[in-house]
Amino acid sequence: MDTQSFSDASSPPSPSLSVSTLSVTATADTAPSDFGDDSSLTSPNAAVEDASYILVIGGLGYIGSHTVLELLKEGYNVVIVDDLSNSFSTVFDRINFLAAEHCQATGQRLPSLKLHCMDYQSPSLRSLLWRYRTRPTANPSDSRRSMIHGVIHFAAFKSVSESIDRPLDYYQNNVGGFIDLLSTLKEFGINGFVFSSSATVYGSMANRGIPLREEDCVHHTETYTDASGAERRTENGVRGLTSPYGRTKWMCEAILADLAASDPSWSIAALRYFNPVGCHASGLLGEDSRQTPTNLFPIITRVLTGAKPTLDVFGTDWATSDGTAVRDFIHVVDLARGHVSALAAVAAGKLASPFRAFNLGTGQGHTVQEVVNSMQQAAERTIPVRHEGRRAGDVGSCVADVQRATSELEWQAQKSLRDCAESTWNYVSR
Ligand SMILES: NC(=O)c1ccc[n+]([C@@H]2O[C@H](COP(=O)([O-])OP(=O)(O)OC[C@H]3O[C@@H](n4cnc5c(N)ncnc54)[C@H](O)[C@@H]3O)[C@@H](O)[C@H]2O)c1
Repeated sequence: MDTQSFSDASSPPSPSLSVSTLSVTATADTAPSDFGDDSSLTSPNAAVEDASYILVIGGLGYIGSHTVLELLKEGYNVVIVDDLSNSFSTVFDRINFLAAEHCQATGQRLPSLKLHCMDYQSPSLRSLLWRYRTRPTANPSDSRRSMIHGVIHFAAFKSVSESIDRPLDYYQNNVGGFIDLLSTLKEFGINGFVFSSSATVYGSMANRGIPLREEDCVHHTETYTDASGAERRTENGVRGLTSPYGRTKWMCEAILADLAASDPSWSIAALRYFNPVGCHASGLLGEDSRQTPTNLFPIITRVLTGAKPTLDVFGTDWATSDGTAVRDFIHVVDLARGHVSALAAVAAGKLASPFRAFNLGTGQGHTVQEVVNSMQQAAERTIPVRHEGRRAGDVGSCVADVQRATSELEWQAQKSLRDCAESTWNYVSR
């Protein structure tokens, strides 16, 4: 899909949002045939022509939409690129509405928000970047060539099971297009980059059942001091990646690490998410994908709403408090704020190295049974559960060590499992 209009018959209805009364710029992009032809382009709002922007690729998806809202609340102007392959254009109205509501309440200036419906792999991306190039100035120290001061890249296919059935689609969208994207950004002098990675990059390191630290998966050999003060050395590489999806995340990280090693002017943060869950407190943003969800929270909501008869819980004999598996569930708004912190560090050139990976989790595990209990409480309904044996490749406990993000990004998750459950139920029951 190259370009797409806003009309989207299959998208869920938008609540009655009075966006049109708010001074937000929303442009559905029509790709120019020739990237030198400015007359056919929608220019950035003239009033903010010298402004800076953050390009958010995949910004209408679950994590992207929450992150765009947090960026707007922090005063960043945002340009979204999304092909709607796993999201709906109504999400754009909802972000606009929530940002405007926040700015009205706080008296802040409402930043600019633009949406370009296109595949990030299409030639139209180059046209778009051309529109945001800066004009040469008389000031020799002003070497910036683009008004885009940073990129957050969410766009990827994300289903583990689908990646096993359609590996080439996953390698193309998640890795093939990604290499071209980095070359294009380099060409336009854009070198601040935040990448959506995943705890899956730890492969079989997760089997040890102890909190995972970033040094457990590195792309160039590293030495570090462990918790006991001992000097350790980690060889690059990873074992036990179990799906094409996981391999795409690891490959993209490796590409970014090699790029940063070759050219230290890059400033790249790879954010390894643990288990993102929950929704915005307003009930207007949540996980609303076109794919059938395979994660725990969306499956529970399908059971609660009657779309699925029972919840299958795999494994009840793990060495955990109640025998069910432990995961590190992080509220999506905390995760979104983690991106804002990472972007600030990237833009200020404050990363400890040109490529730096960070775990984004809470550092605290919860069992699947605890999740079931908190969702039952939030919904005031019983969840029928069927206990099954362990699934091949599952691990008993997967929790983040969050020390690095705490000290280097000055970011910590704030929200509880109860917040995750209540916001999820608030979203699906509206
Ligand atoms: N949700 C999770 O549990 C989780 C966990 C770890 C990592 N991640 C990663 O975080 C990122 C975002 O995840 P999410 O849950 O928000 O997924 P999502 O599917 O909700 O969002 C991805 C967005 O990218 C868009 N997109 C996909 N391919 C595109 C393309 N070629 N061009 C333009 N837009 C495209 C989709 O339409 C969608 O809006 C992904 O890279 C995913 O792999 C997600």
